[in-house]
Amino acid sequence: MDRDYLELKKWLEETKDEPLETMSGFFEARIDSYEEHMARWQGHYKWMAELLPASVESLLDIGCGSGLELDYIFKRFPNLQTVGVDLSKKMLQKLYTKHHDKNLSLVCEDYFTYDMGKERFDAVVAFQTLHHYTIESKEILFKKIFDCLKQGGVYLECDYIATSQEIEDLAFSECRRRRLRDGIKDDAFVHFDIPLTLEHELNAIRTAGFSIVELVGFLPEDNHTAMIRAIK
Ligand SMILES: C[S@@+](CC[C@H](N)C(=O)[O-])C[C@H]1O[C@@H](n2cnc3c(N)ncnc32)[C@H](O)[C@@H]1O
Repeated sequence: MDRDYLELKKWLEETKDEPLETMSGFFEARIDSYEEHMARWQGHYKWMAELLPASVESLLDIGCGSGLELDYIFKRFPNLQTVGVDLSKKMLQKLYTKHHDKNLSLVCEDYFTYDMGKERFDAVVAFQTLHHYTIESKEILFKKIFDCLKQGGVYLECDYIATSQEIEDLAFSECRRRRLRDGIKDDAFVHFDIPLTLEHELNAIRTAGFSIVELVGFLPEDNHTAMIRAIK
């Protein structure tokens, strides 16, 4: 077994009796330390902003949180017409405090049910938010993302991936065990990481019909966080 697997197994064992937290409850309980905790992905936030084509005028950020990716995106595109969707009101308030002078519309809603519209955006971004969801729910979401993009539009995703099938399976089965234990309904969102392998993530995005779906790469210091690009 590889090191990543053994580390995950150890961590799951240490935390096995901890109750699951709701998705928004998890982030709201940690709102004051959130940005500090995410500082390790500064390079990825900057990279995502650099990958947006220069012609982008409108953007949807799903799971935008407090907008750490938008901090960099707005440096490059200060007039970008932007919609940010997030479940957490407190995260959106933090984002609003930083960027209320921008052309920014904030929606406190579940991105699975949010009406993204058709051919509305030049770009959609998702940073560290989709690793909480199953492949089945992601495939439905990727189709919505595809539909809301204009022809030639770009989807950028930067997220955790499982570095082996064993890790994907272990996290998934432990999530299921904890959900059953805590009596969580199937449609309720909890904060528990169930990343897919890179291959499964790319294949799930492909089902939406994008003309190009590719791994852009990893940063040298982090082989768990993949940058993915899809073009409509
Ligand atoms: C780790 S944070 C990432 C936030 C931001 N993208 C960043 O990188 O700083 C994940 C965010 O996704 C949001 N989120 C998770 N599931 C969601 C859903 N179904 N609909 C809307 N937001 C969701 C959470 O509330 C949280 O703010």
